[in-house]
Amino acid sequence: MNYEYRNRRLCVEGVELSEIASQCGTPTYVYSAGMIRERYHAYANAFSGMPSRVCYAVKANSNLAVLAVLAKEGAGFDIVSGGELFRVLRAGGKASNTVFSGVGKTADEIRYAIEQGVHSFNCESYAEIEVLNRVAGETGKTASVALRVNPDVNPVTHEYISTGLKENKFGIDMSVIEQAYAHAASQQHLKVTGVSCHIGSQMLDSAPMVEAVERLLALALRLKASGLPIDHIDLGGGLGVKYQATEDTPSIHDAVASMRKVVEASGLIAMVEPGRSIVAESGVLLTKVLYRKNNGGKEFAIIDAAMNDLIRPSLYKAFHDVVPVIENDQPTMEVDLVGPVCESGDWIAKKRTLPTLESGDLLAVKTAGAYGFGMASNYNSRGRAAEVLVDGSTFKVVRERESWEDLIRGESA
Ligand code: LLP
Repeated sequence: MNYEYRNRRLCVEGVELSEIASQCGTPTYVYSAGMIRERYHAYANAFSGMPSRVCYAVKANSNLAVLAVLAKEGAGFDIVSGGELFRVLRAGGKASNTVFSGVGKTADEIRYAIEQGVHSFNCESYAEIEVLNRVAGETGKTASVALRVNPDVNPVTHEYISTGLKENKFGIDMSVIEQAYAHAASQQHLKVTGVSCHIGSQMLDSAPMVEAVERLLALALRLKASGLPIDHIDLGGGLGVKYQATEDTPSIHDAVASMRKVVEASGLIAMVEPGRSIVAESGVLLTKVLYRKNNGGKEFAIIDAAMNDLIRPSLYKAFHDVVPVIENDQPTMEVDLVGPVCESGDWIAKKRTLPTLESGDLLAVKTAGAYGFGMASNYNSRGRAAEVLVDGSTFKVVRERESWEDLIRGESA
């Protein structure tokens, strides 16, 4: 267990969270390097003995130190922008181990990625195929391409993070995918090497993933039989994590095993693009109670973390467990945890039972390592939180808290 109470103090690996709060202040994101490594290896080991690549989805948490931990372990990367590629390279990741996904790559981003030598592009439209071919021609290189298939499988998740249904903007419809492949294969500067999909995020059941893989594999085999040099099948990311004790998710090992069963005999390289399942549980958002307030009989604790720090509750009504950093024997209370931002939608947790809170009490918002800092903003001119990486019994600040000067960088009056 990487997060556990010792002497009533919540610790991550060998470090007390209260120590991090006193040295670095709050709000602060804290990540466990050990847990990130463990999750990456759970994927890598589940594929052992067959050709595979585990490409961490950078969008889930793009801090350089997090990327560097994964790069050192041999992870590949899944990127969706030139900025993400820049980060991967700075963190010591290899372009040749990186796949470029996303529905709206610009010509400049494509050029940068080709020049750096990314492994392949997951292409999402006819129009993109043409830009990719043109830019590849201009750089004098051949780009490897997989088309992202929209397999029309329901991932059974929040509508904002469901991507594999016909009505979503992602991928190319199954009914026209073979024409799209013929089109890509006819382009002079492209080599069609794979098939890909990603049907959604925070999936708590592997059945939809398996269904998507079956459809994708059938397609890959048809394309191969027609003479295309298909060598890989990219299954996307999307495995869920337990935000609440009542949620049940397959382990990484079991989820991979059920997909592996489908693809292994094909001899194709299996690729995956997990984000959340590698980093979510490694992270907490450390915050402090500023004020207590009772409004019309309802208890509020105003904390120093807000929707600009962690937008998931406001945006998706997402649940994050919140626990005291130092346990005590106070009677419990039911309380809404809200931030200082001027919106009623600025809440982190509602109707939680916690030991009676007082100003200065420290809380840890759990399972915040994915889509936390990465989705943070400067709304209300709030500097973004610091980020800390814990490794064993040491920790270091891997992103400084933003200052007021940082807030106005690049602006002029
Ligand atoms: N590959 C592609 C093409 C993706 O679009 C995504 C996530 C992933 C991989 C990684 O999925 P994961 O393993 O992390 O589920 N902000 C939302 C999640 C958005 C996911 C977007 N795409 C949230 O906070 O729940």
